[in-house]
Amino acid sequence: MRFLSILLLAFAIAVARSQDASGDFQNQTYNSPFQPVSISGKASITTYFSPDTSIQTETNMIINAKQTIDIGIPGMDSWVGCSDSYNGVYGCSVSKQRSQETFPIFQALLNAIHRGVEVRILTNNYYTPNSTCTSGQIDPISFLALAGAKVRYFTTLTFLHSKYCNVDGTSSSISSINYSQTSFMKNREAGVIVTGNTQLTDFTNTVFEYDWNLGIDWPTITYSSSDMKIINDKTQISVQIPSPPSFSGSYVTTVNTVSDKMKVTVFTSPDNAWDQVSADIKASSSLKVYIYQITNSDWCDLIGNYTGDLSILVSNEIYDYADWQSASECYKHLSKSGITIRKTAKNMYTYSHQKYWILDDEVVYLSTGNWGNTDFPDGSQTFPSYNESPSEWRKTNRDFNIKMEDPKLATIYLDLFKADYQRGYDYYN
Ligand SMILES: *[C@@H]1O[C@H](CO)[C@@H](O)[C@H](O)[C@H]1NC(C)=O
Ligand SMILES: *[C@@H]1O[C@H](CO)[C@@H](O)[C@H](O)[C@H]1NC(C)=O
Ligand SMILES: *[C@@H]1O[C@H](CO)[C@@H](O)[C@H](O)[C@H]1NC(C)=O
Ligand SMILES: *[C@@H]1O[C@H](CO)[C@@H](O)[C@H](O)[C@H]1NC(C)=O
Repeated sequence: MRFLSILLLAFAIAVARSQDASGDFQNQTYNSPFQPVSISGKASITTYFSPDTSIQTETNMIINAKQTIDIGIPGMDSWVGCSDSYNGVYGCSVSKQRSQETFPIFQALLNAIHRGVEVRILTNNYYTPNSTCTSGQIDPISFLALAGAKVRYFTTLTFLHSKYCNVDGTSSSISSINYSQTSFMKNREAGVIVTGNTQLTDFTNTVFEYDWNLGIDWPTITYSSSDMKIINDKTQISVQIPSPPSFSGSYVTTVNTVSDKMKVTVFTSPDNAWDQVSADIKASSSLKVYIYQITNSDWCDLIGNYTGDLSILVSNEIYDYADWQSASECYKHLSKSGITIRKTAKNMYTYSHQKYWILDDEVVYLSTGNWGNTDFPDGSQTFPSYNESPSEWRKTNRDFNIKMEDPKLATIYLDLFKADYQRGYDYYN
């Protein structure tokens, strides 16, 4: 009996392994062509966090764009239900999408397109609307695509996981923030805008361009001429940036810009990111990590074997059930070796979705990726697509990472770490 259940379990795992992820459009092997770019020189870094200052900061980037906007984002959720399905009908009316959408980045992007800014959006294709199921209905991305944005979906790897925006070629934002109301207004999230250093922004532009060139044009359906008139209406709409929400007892962050001579490294995942990050962690003597989740993977062993001074703060809640299970296993494993797992305050943010860690209280890493195999895969850095090799295929995400060495920046991240840590609770102790 026991033998049989083990056999069944093994079979179930084998079946699960050989299943492609739905929404995976990778179609050729990815060979990790990108090397990290490091500078030691003048740069300007603006730090911002949800729920306090992210919506203002990211919307203002779009409002101030003069020539180009490049966005890489997993998805774009309407704030008024225009990217949801009701009774099998997806989206909402074209007129509602234009006049009632409250996501200010949608409003600002539409204005940018209509004042002649070249807007490109790269995203995942989780759901392609078609005219059978969606007669006359629309969602934010399809609206922007028809209004003149260039939109493509990602095929380089399994999923695009970075939350990225570049404006006019010279300012890049890298963050944990999904385009959803929860991410901006209800979660803890962390982002930076990097500017004033072309080596750094050229790197993110190059990665974006690489993925853009492999992308596939966003499919759009046909709308009536009266709907098309609404979509092509060039009258600027008013951009309504909501005031920051207040969470009783929370630590409230502010926006800070540090312009200094500093050491900064930008790199992308997968592209040997695991090697870089794990080597730096091993070489450090203190590690403070404030991250959404650590899933059961080599990350768990790396942290379990860490010999320095270690503090771990992770999200109280995890959205995805499989991720939650995997993270729980990891936390149990770590606690067995005497490591305290601290979770963020209950009844405060919906998720604590930021991803950053501080080495020796000096070096800050900020990432769009979590600690796990999909964002930081180890082993071979060659990633065949599922079509080419189901057995060698791995679910792998594109992410951006930035390593910052500057005392003023370190203080900002340390202060937030201490504040949110103090408000949290020991999950395993
Ligand atoms: C992958 O490329 C092949 C050959 O070009 C094509 O037939 C197939 O439809 C593509 N698959 C996807 C998922 O795009
Ligand atoms: C962020 O967005 C991605 C893609 O849309 C989704 O899979 C993930 O669950 C979101 N995470 C959170 C915490 O909202
Ligand atoms: C259109 O979308 C519906 C789901 O809403 C799906 O069942 C159907 O197969 C799709 N048709 C085409 C041609 O993709
Ligand atoms: C230390 O690393 C080894 C493998 O390298 C692993 O098997 C072990 O579980 C790790 N220890 C802890 C406590 O995580």
